[in-house]
Amino acid sequence: MTLILLSSFLLAACGEAPQAPGPEVAALTPPPAPPEKVDPKADALALAKATDAGARLGAALKGRLTQAMVEGPGAAMTACSDEAQGLTAQVRGESGVRVGRASLKLRNPTNSGPDWVQAWLTANEGKPGAEAALSSEVTTTPDGRFARVIRPITVEAGCLTCHGDPAAIPPPVKEQLTARYPGDAATGYKVGDLRGAIWAELAVKPAAEPAADPATAPAAPDPAAPPQEG
Ligand code: HEC
Repeated sequence: MTLILLSSFLLAACGEAPQAPGPEVAALTPPPAPPEKVDPKADALALAKATDAGARLGAALKGRLTQAMVEGPGAAMTACSDEAQGLTAQVRGESGVRVGRASLKLRNPTNSGPDWVQAWLTANEGKPGAEAALSSEVTTTPDGRFARVIRPITVEAGCLTCHGDPAAIPPPVKEQLTARYPGDAATGYKVGDLRGAIWAELAVKPAAEPAADPATAPAAPDPAAPPQEG
């Protein structure tokens, strides 16, 4: 008791009257954010768009690769190297969805995925491609609400020409790998391995707010009105 009185006295003596917790103090602990309004229709639409964009990227890359392989592995290597990034940008531009390909063993470091994709890859590391589960969800993050899709990519026989045992990679492919991807980590795969993932992300667009027409907008609550219970 004496101590408390003494400290109050000392504070007062220094010209700093002890203050009751005022608005400044209250402002330090903001009220909890109101629960986010979830619109199931907007969620489903964003998820469908993300799923579609991922499928389109997969089809575009595989289509181009299959076509180029007809000209031989060297030409196909050039096509993959020159066009994969452009095709990815094209799908992003056309769909408005952020899409990409990622892997823990990258050929092109640009393909490194966002954190949530890297987390999925790490969780599925070492599994055969067939055992890696597709992930498809709508989730609320500190940056907003997002539809996120991850589709596993499994190594097939045709991939080994450029991603298989380095000793078996044909010289025209090897030369380009050395020249274009000095840090290439994407070899040594076997058929059935999980190669990586195609991912897609789209922000959920909240349902349109009603027009701010004062004639139709609901009246704002009167601040002077007594608080209502319930
Ligand atoms: C003709 C050579 C070639 C073949 C065949 C090939 N790839 Fe690739 N792959 C590449 C090149 C080159 C890149 C780097 C492209 C870039 O710069 O974005 C690449 C990149 C990738 C990536 C992106 C991640 C990374 O490491 O940069 C994945 C995933 C991938 N390939 C999977 C496959 C799968 C699955 C197959 C078989 C269906 C396949 N590739 C067949 C040459 C090939």
